[in-house]
Amino acid sequence: MPKVFVTKNIPEKGIELLQKAGYEVAIGSNAKGAHAVLSLLTDHIDARFMDSIGSQLKVISNMAAGLDNVDLDVAKERGVAVRNTPDVLTESVAEHAAALILGTTRRVAEGDRFVRAGKFKGWDPALLLGIELNGKTLGIVGHGRIGCRLAGIMQKGFGMRAVYYDTARDSVKEETCGITYASFEDLLKDSDVVSLHVPLLPGTRHLIGEKELRLMKPTAYLVNTARGAIVDEKALVKALKEQWIAGAALDVFENEPKLAPGLAKLQNVILTPHIASATKETREKMAELAAQNIIAVL
Ligand code: GLV
Repeated sequence: MPKVFVTKNIPEKGIELLQKAGYEVAIGSNAKGAHAVLSLLTDHIDARFMDSIGSQLKVISNMAAGLDNVDLDVAKERGVAVRNTPDVLTESVAEHAAALILGTTRRVAEGDRFVRAGKFKGWDPALLLGIELNGKTLGIVGHGRIGCRLAGIMQKGFGMRAVYYDTARDSVKEETCGITYASFEDLLKDSDVVSLHVPLLPGTRHLIGEKELRLMKPTAYLVNTARGAIVDEKALVKALKEQWIAGAALDVFENEPKLAPGLAKLQNVILTPHIASATKETREKMAELAAQNIIAVL
């Protein structure tokens, strides 16, 4: 009977699918001898990990869209298939990015802290002013499914104008998403909100650093629901402190779950704990797809 090692408990539907397919399922411990591993983005799947499982290992099924936690070269060398769970989280992540855009531009978390601290003494014409999104420019970095969906939500729902940057232009996608291309520099210079939707690769690590943050408008906001290390978090702390930009909203961090020194002290940043895909619907679909990916390979 093939054995599947699931590194941590996942929504029951995924486990049920594996059991129904006739596999022995080990959750959290007893990984040795597994033919498949259902991993999470917090697992470091490297040569040492694969050695600890054994040479019968056939597939790593990562319950995530990103694959930056898996050493793809080592997996390839060993003939281990690697799968991920794209598509099923497009809606939830795009919706969370939209929530962060609204949250940061309308100072929602700051207002909540203000009220709870007993500082609200009544309506004031200058209290916690933000910006309106209608007519503003949204710069989408990374023109995949999530970036495209976010562009749709923000253009149709809030009257923003969306531009995108990616390493390659795709005229078909430009048309279906109703979005126009901008060079990376122009996007940074012109956008009122910059939202990141690229995978973490050697070429995207610290894509947003001091130089890029200085190119952004002092009135602009940065939103990251992709991977923390795409932003140089230390440079971002400096930018927020010295107000090179107006604010930021981060769902992901460079050294999760640790934060860069000073980040949590800043008022002009919203921090959420890597929950962009955390809807009941999406997590269930991710678990199911991760299980189906194993069944397909085995
Ligand atoms: C979440 O961050 C994912 O990659 O699924």
